[in-house]
Amino acid sequence: MTTTAVTESGAALALDGVSRVYGGGAPALDGIDLVVPRGRLVAVMGRSGSGKSTLLRCAAGLERPTAGRVRIGGTDLASLKATALTRLRRDRIGFVFQSLNLVSALNVRENVTLPLLLAGAREGRALDALALAGLDAVGLADRAEDRPESLSGGQRQRVAIARALVNEPEVVFADEPTAALDPVTASGVLALLRRAVDEQGRTVVLVTHDPVAATWADEAVFLEHGRIAGRLDRPDEERVRAALGVRTETGRQPAVAR
Ligand SMILES: Nc1ncnc2c1ncn2[C@@H]1O[C@H](COP(=O)(O)OP(=O)(O)OP(=O)(O)O)[C@@H](O)[C@H]1O
Ligand SMILES: [Mg+2]
Repeated sequence: MTTTAVTESGAALALDGVSRVYGGGAPALDGIDLVVPRGRLVAVMGRSGSGKSTLLRCAAGLERPTAGRVRIGGTDLASLKATALTRLRRDRIGFVFQSLNLVSALNVRENVTLPLLLAGAREGRALDALALAGLDAVGLADRAEDRPESLSGGQRQRVAIARALVNEPEVVFADEPTAALDPVTASGVLALLRRAVDEQGRTVVLVTHDPVAATWADEAVFLEHGRIAGRLDRPDEERVRAALGVRTETGRQPAVAR
C-alpha cells in the first residue's frame, strides 16, 4: 500500500514480516505486514484457525513471533527483556480478551483500577474517581461496588473495556469481545470502542467473526492460513461478507460463524 511508508513511523502498531510457528505444523502466522496508524479501529477477520488470536498475542507482546518484528509506538518488542515487555504491556496496551477475565475476588471498581495498581498507583480517592469516570463512560457507575459475578456477560465486557482504557493505552487489543453477546448489547460494546477511538484518539485492533461488527472499523483485514488475504477500507457488511466468501443470497448461516 502506498500509505504504509508514510504512516509507519508514526504508527501505533507495525508488524513487519511477522511469523509464528508452533511445533512442526503449518505456520499460524506467515509473514504478516500490518501498519495501524494512531486513532484507527482495525478489524481482523478470517475463519477459525486462520491466525487472528495468534496475531493479537504477538502484536500485544504476549507471545514472541518466530520471525519478523512488532513495534508499538515505535518500540521494537524484540529489543525488550521480559520485565520491560511486561511493563510495556501494563503501561501502553489495553486488553479485552475473553481469557483475561475479571478478577472475581475484586469488585467492579477494583477490577477497573487493577492495571493502575499493578503499575504502582496508590489506592485512594483519585484512583476511585478515575475508575468511576471509566465506569460512567460504559454506563456502569452504579455497579462499581458489585462483584463481577453479579453482572451479565455484556456488562462484564463493558467493565473489561473500562479496565482496558483506564491506563490510556496506545493500543487496545480486543479478541472477539462481542462473541457471546446479543446484537444490541454487542453494538453497545462496539460503540464504546469506537468512542475511545473518536473521542480519545485510542487505537483499537478488534478480532471479530461478525460482518456487522466489522462495520464499526475503519479498515478490515482478512486472514487466511496466517497470511493477509485482503483488506477493506471503511468496510460495509456486504463487502465484508463477500470478502469472507459468505453467500448471503442463500440465507445460510455465514461460513465463518461457529
Ligand atoms: N499455543 C498453541 N500451540 C499450538 N498451536 C497453536 C497454538 N495457538 C494457536 N495454534 C494454532 O495456530 C493456528 C491459528 O490459531 P488462532 O488461535 O490464532 O486462530 P483464530 O483465527 O484465532 O481462530 P478462532 O476464530 O477459532 O479463534 C491454529 O491452527 C491453531 O491450532
Ligand atoms: Mg481466536
